[in-house]
Amino acid sequence: MEKIIVTGGNPLRGTVQISGSKNSALPIIAATLLTGEPCVIRGVPNLSDIQFMCDILKWLSVKVTHHKADGVVEVAAKHPLGVAPYELVRKMRASVCLLGPLLGRLHNCKVSLPGGCVIGDRPIDQHIKGLKRLGAEVVVENGYVHARCHELTGADVFMGGRFGSTVLGTANMIMAAVLAKGTTSIEGAACEPEIEDLCNFLTSMGAKIKGGGSHIIEIEGVEQLHGADHTVIPDRIEAGTFMAAAAITGGDLEIKGARAEHLHAVRDKLEEAGVTITRNNGTIRVTSNGDLKPVDVITMPYPGFPTDMQAQMSALMTVTPGISVITEKVFPNRFMHISEMARLGADCALEGSSAIVKGVKHLSGAPVMASDLRASAGLVLAGLTAEGETEVNRIYHVDRGYERIDQKLRAVGAKIERVAE
Ligand code: UD1
Repeated sequence: MEKIIVTGGNPLRGTVQISGSKNSALPIIAATLLTGEPCVIRGVPNLSDIQFMCDILKWLSVKVTHHKADGVVEVAAKHPLGVAPYELVRKMRASVCLLGPLLGRLHNCKVSLPGGCVIGDRPIDQHIKGLKRLGAEVVVENGYVHARCHELTGADVFMGGRFGSTVLGTANMIMAAVLAKGTTSIEGAACEPEIEDLCNFLTSMGAKIKGGGSHIIEIEGVEQLHGADHTVIPDRIEAGTFMAAAAITGGDLEIKGARAEHLHAVRDKLEEAGVTITRNNGTIRVTSNGDLKPVDVITMPYPGFPTDMQAQMSALMTVTPGISVITEKVFPNRFMHISEMARLGADCALEGSSAIVKGVKHLSGAPVMASDLRASAGLVLAGLTAEGETEVNRIYHVDRGYERIDQKLRAVGAKIERVAE
């Protein structure tokens, strides 16, 4: 295992290139199962989660070539198998998005239930409800979701659960519906840019989809799909993380390749906190003189403030004078990073699904434990401002979602190294 050691205090300055979106690439790679023809996916970040998805497809007898250095994944799913086992699925919760394409293509599939997750209970009741509405028989037995049907038939489906829309639930529904007979209308669909990207990919494969990226998506089923060549959108969460990194270090970063229109809520909150943000030709420039104001943040489905930016924003507020309230409305228990930030001297208290953060003058370095992907990003950010050395252990979590984060940070002035634990 590896850990990251950060010595805080250096303002970040320079240019960072944003990688392709992990959360776009994963369902898009799964969607290649919907055709026997070759597909080429470009702009794919070199991350362990992408490797897990490629490994599952290979296990399903699909031909996958991953050109890691070029960010290209080529897939040809001539005769995919329909069973995704626990040993592979448990490594990555997003494997649940294999259900929709496997059911749509094969009409019979078994995908292991991914199991628990430190960010909270992650039920898939909405996924199952949606697939049943299309006429599938879905049972959970022996740890697997077993979905089968004679054929799938278009239907009206409402996808909003207790915490609003579901991203991968919407992705599963779309992928199941593109080959269904007749028209499917999904209301309460997730509007995330990653869903729009998936719809664009499916459309380039010959699917008929209207409204991708909005709350109502209409899909007219087609007989079959063909191969396609697609480039995934830039990773808005990686971009947001570097924006917060510039802010927390009082730095000046140019973030290249990010789409500012996908980052409205994050820009809005950072500006409210006193950070200067300008846009120029596909670049977002983030400048902070270190003079920050506290902000209250509530996470929500897109276009609201993303839950995947909550830990990074919490880190920023730990060193912002005044009191900030960070409320989680998507994963109400997603606060594992708060007690680790307390080890660095942060003054935080949890009240239900909110963290009350009282900004301190400075954090001081200490060993901390990463618990999940975004929590570990939050801890790296806290380390960038803490006095002395912060050791972030279990860094494999960060490698699931950030391509070469230590190298990218070092290139803009951070004192950061990766060492064996
Ligand atoms: C995706 C993202 C993840 C992000 C999350 C919310 C990927 C690979 N992952 O995860 O990074 O944090 O969206 O933006 O894209 N829920 C139910 N029933 C369901 C499904 C979900 O109650 O059937 C609940 C979840 O427990 C959670 C909320 O709905 O409270 C949102 O979850 P969801 O949007 O499904 O998250 P994912 O798609 O798994």
